[in-house]
Amino acid sequence: MPTMGALHAGHEALVRRARAECDLVVASIFVNPAQFGAREDLGRYPHDEARDGELAEEWGIDFLFVPSAAEMYPAGFQTWVDVEALSEGLEGAGRPGHFRGVATVCLKLFNIVRPDRAYFGQKDAQQAALVERMVRDLDLELEIRVVPTVRDVDGVAASSRNAYLSAEEREAARTLPRALEAGAEAHRGGRDAARAARARLAQEPGLEPEYVEVARLNGRVYLLAAVRAGRTRLIDNVVLEGDFE
Ligand code: PAJ
Repeated sequence: MPTMGALHAGHEALVRRARAECDLVVASIFVNPAQFGAREDLGRYPHDEARDGELAEEWGIDFLFVPSAAEMYPAGFQTWVDVEALSEGLEGAGRPGHFRGVATVCLKLFNIVRPDRAYFGQKDAQQAALVERMVRDLDLELEIRVVPTVRDVDGVAASSRNAYLSAEEREAARTLPRALEAGAEAHRGGRDAARAARARLAQEPGLEPEYVEVARLNGRVYLLAAVRAGRTRLIDNVVLEGDFE
């Protein structure tokens, strides 16, 4: 399972699932510069190697792979994976080049580790769909498993970036899952999910919506949103249609 570290309950759920299904569990921690834009948070992305190491051991990860940027992208590196349509829109619209970086690093990690299965979170639904597509398109010999989003007690999806939030921003962030739930509820009643979610978000001055959209990703229909709480960008989604796990 690929991660960028600052491990949390969402990562733990991926490990649990992998532990239940596999003999050996390998996790990588690599803050992949190729998937960050020039004005994004690469330089301040949270990291705590000692704590990640302890958690990895506690959770039963057998191997932790923590490469350096120079190992992953040596001088002269020039080969990239572009998953075309799935990189457009949603996260791809606001983060040009992001998914090229994600697809490339995931393919490299798959080639280095050679797993039978790789575990991804629903929290990053577009990313999971894109990796599933890459695996099919490039005939990779592994299965992608997608694990439902883990939330903290206040409903906010667990995320390494939650560490950036002030107490006030965290309070405001609770409106994101609530708005998505309001959207799902509207959808169940035959109404417009995105519109209902936008209306709920508009009541929270502490959040600035970037997108709120319904999209079909590899067979499931999602309501997805990205918002800003101060300087911090948060994403979340709910499944509107389609079996999940
Ligand atoms: P990172 O944000 O560390 O997430 C690693 C994996 O954990 C991803 O598959 C993500 O979807 C999953 N995850 C994160 N928060 C989750 C939550 N609350 N519930 C369930 N799963 C969750 O996503 C990345 O790193 C990177 O883009 C990566 C795939 C490692 C490529 O660099």
